[in-house]
Amino acid sequence: MAVNIAVIGGTGVYDPGLLSNARSEKITTPFGEVTICLGKSQDKEVAFVSRHGEEHNVPPHLVNYRANIWALKKIGVRNILATAAVGSLNPAMKPGDFVFVDQFLDFTKTRAHTFIEQGGLHPDMTAPYCAALRHFLSEAANRLNLRFHLKGTYVCTEGPRFETPAEIRLFQKIGGDLVGMTGIPEVTLAREAGICYACSAVVTNFAAGISTTVLSHQEVVAAMEKYQDNLRRLLSQVLILIDENRTCFCQASAFV
Ligand code: HPA
Repeated sequence: MAVNIAVIGGTGVYDPGLLSNARSEKITTPFGEVTICLGKSQDKEVAFVSRHGEEHNVPPHLVNYRANIWALKKIGVRNILATAAVGSLNPAMKPGDFVFVDQFLDFTKTRAHTFIEQGGLHPDMTAPYCAALRHFLSEAANRLNLRFHLKGTYVCTEGPRFETPAEIRLFQKIGGDLVGMTGIPEVTLAREAGICYACSAVVTNFAAGISTTVLSHQEVVAAMEKYQDNLRRLLSQVLILIDENRTCFCQASAFV
């Protein structure tokens, strides 16, 4: 049976505890092998991929984004719910808040970022994140009384280092709300593959220079642990609400 919905777990989301009867499968792709966890949640077949790998140790700039998206496409996925730990540049977006990202600014540098190898193919990015999935997420967050923002501009940096305060000031000036290291090229590859994609960003900290302390990965992981329960509730609720069989602009724009 084809699996329609996938969760890509970011930092701090390694075992969402969402799936019953979970089993693990290795999927072969032209870009390498991906281990996918498959199971049931809310009466739906759901796939789970850990973005940073099975051992949770692949840094943001070395994640095999193409293999992950290809593998999900191969098993029939049409909807991806990604999670991401992010720093906030926007005083209204506070630690613990969810942001259903609607735009991005791409500051990555070295990543294999596309499936396209042919001239004349240029994916539209007017609405990179699926509006329908963002709507289901906001409905789920409303039902659970979670603090959330329906929109936000995600700045993707190359990592693995955190940003300088000068970079954060620049990102604020050009309209960024959040900063993270993994959103690109995941969202753009999903669009190339014709898969609806939404990102539930969890604010773990204020960004460098706004935060009064130095930043560390441990701080981000500890914050994600604190908000993990809300994230699990959000994902369970949205899995109830998603209409798997809808047609969507994102799916009509496949390039692979
Ligand atoms: N910067 C980049 N990535 C992040 C941050 C940050 O402040 N917090 C969580 N992921």
